[in-house]
Amino acid sequence: MIEPIRKRYSCRCYEDREIEGEKLDCIFEAARLAPSAKNLQDWRFVVATEKQKRQDLAVAANNQRFLENAGAVIAACSKGDYVMRCGQPVAPIDVAIALEHITLQAAELGLATCWIGSFYPEKVRAALAIPDNVAVIELMALGYPADQPKEPNRLPLDGIFCYDKWRF
Ligand SMILES: Cc1cc2nc3c(=O)[nH]c(=O)nc-3n(C[C@H](O)[C@H](O)[C@H](O)COP(=O)(O)O)c2cc1C
Repeated sequence: MIEPIRKRYSCRCYEDREIEGEKLDCIFEAARLAPSAKNLQDWRFVVATEKQKRQDLAVAANNQRFLENAGAVIAACSKGDYVMRCGQPVAPIDVAIALEHITLQAAELGLATCWIGSFYPEKVRAALAIPDNVAVIELMALGYPADQPKEPNRLPLDGIFCYDKWRF
């Protein structure tokens, strides 16, 4: 498991190349199997593969033009509004888990991804005919990388984990 985790990075340069159907199926199966609160599975994913749609999404993502070349841009949505007892809404959590499954399965298959949170939901909605009662939680670029992976820049383990008591 640690291998695809180490391989994954945010790719911002893609080959304008179609992704094989079997690879997409395999990647989306990884998302389908993700856990969700109460097993609600309220996530829905619209996968933009047409060039025009990818261009529309690049504009919707504040002109992040690299989205145009990614073989697919996924709009991750939720039709749920359940809030857990702890006060946290499940939609962004559940969608994020499924998306992370996508990033890792993609990395395993030699594909690259990039999370996209900088976007205007109304523009995404308009481009993909997503109804008003559905939340657009996140976009994700998926495709064949045309750049080189970068070394991750991360805090050390003891800077983010402690045992038994808050010690930060
Ligand atoms: C929720 C979320 C939203 C993000 N939004 C964007 C984005 O809009 N554009 C972008 O280029 N990168 C975006 N990123 C990528 C982060 O900048 C990146 O994950 C972080 O710098 C760590 O680098 P790495 O993914 O290469 O390890 C986002 C990442 C996450 C998790």
